[in-house]
Amino acid sequence: SQPSTAFRVTPSSSPRTAQQREAILAAPGFGNHFTDHMVAIEYDKEQGWHGAEVRPYGPLQLDPAAAVLHYGQEIFEGIKAYRHADGSIWTFRPEANGKRLQRSANRLAMPELPVELFVESLRQLVAVDHEWVSGVGENSLYFRPFMIANEAFLGVRAAQKAAYYVIASPAGPYFAKGVAPVSIWLSTDYARAAKGGTGAAKCGGNYAASLLPQQKAYAQGCSQVLFLDPVEGKYIEELGGMNVFLVYKNGTIVTPALSGSILEGITRESILQLARDRGLKVEERKISIDEWKQGVTSGEISEVFACGTAAVITPIGELKGEGFSVGDLNAPAGEVTMSLRKELTDIQYGRLPDRHNWLVKL
Ligand code: COI
Repeated sequence: SQPSTAFRVTPSSSPRTAQQREAILAAPGFGNHFTDHMVAIEYDKEQGWHGAEVRPYGPLQLDPAAAVLHYGQEIFEGIKAYRHADGSIWTFRPEANGKRLQRSANRLAMPELPVELFVESLRQLVAVDHEWVSGVGENSLYFRPFMIANEAFLGVRAAQKAAYYVIASPAGPYFAKGVAPVSIWLSTDYARAAKGGTGAAKCGGNYAASLLPQQKAYAQGCSQVLFLDPVEGKYIEELGGMNVFLVYKNGTIVTPALSGSILEGITRESILQLARDRGLKVEERKISIDEWKQGVTSGEISEVFACGTAAVITPIGELKGEGFSVGDLNAPAGEVTMSLRKELTDIQYGRLPDRHNWLVKL
């Protein structure tokens, strides 16, 4: 079906006042507040994608038999809008997110949203909620595009009806302590993915599976959980909601190769590109948990960091697990970590030339 880019726009009759909005933008945290509007687009087999609209932010009406409520047919994305010094608003590699949403849709047997419609949905939301894109420091507006299967049917098969929504949330740092090094808990009891499973798709179920191990991480004083590969339980894969990189003392940057059960992070891929541009040696390969432990202990590995749209680049100070801990949470963040972080955010906020054409104006 042809993507219809004619969005019906219904402005909110009770948007927050400028004062209320400024109070939120002054200290947004992450995921706490939402803008005044949202996008909705419907899908069914007969009409394809239709009924695109921007409407006041508010509750969804769902049939209690909707497939998403029973079989977890749900996928999502995370992408930000950045305000530049001249007031213009930009987003980062939206086609990459749009394509990943299509791959996720495919894995979850859901309809693919055309990439142009994905990008247009962000533009439409910013057109009405542009005042929610902070100009303060490294704050941004985090979009959460998501798709649910909403056919009312309890048979276990791919639903024939779906809906796509975009909500937006003013975002500061993901971790409460800001860019300070975090501590990571190694989960050996649980995996987040399976061989042939949905690990590479951005579906709610993967995150649901990470919550119990994540709780255990919190109980151990850690802010994220690290998962090992689901086959041998030997190689590192990713954290609960972000990818991971190791920096060797000799300058080599290493991250787990995409295994089919790792989320294909767009921040991950961008960091690989920036590191290659610098002439650094870059490796995507299997990394055993022993390599991490031994490398940090011997000093061969000088830095470890996490990355994602929400986390940007966050230094990892310490890795803990049953009966061991390596690294030092109180050591300062690594130089390579912080300089890659600066370069990436300088591009995103328009302070450095966008040599890869990653930015798209909204
Ligand atoms: C993101 O980085 O955008 C994510 O989706 C991770 C998360 C906070 C679930």
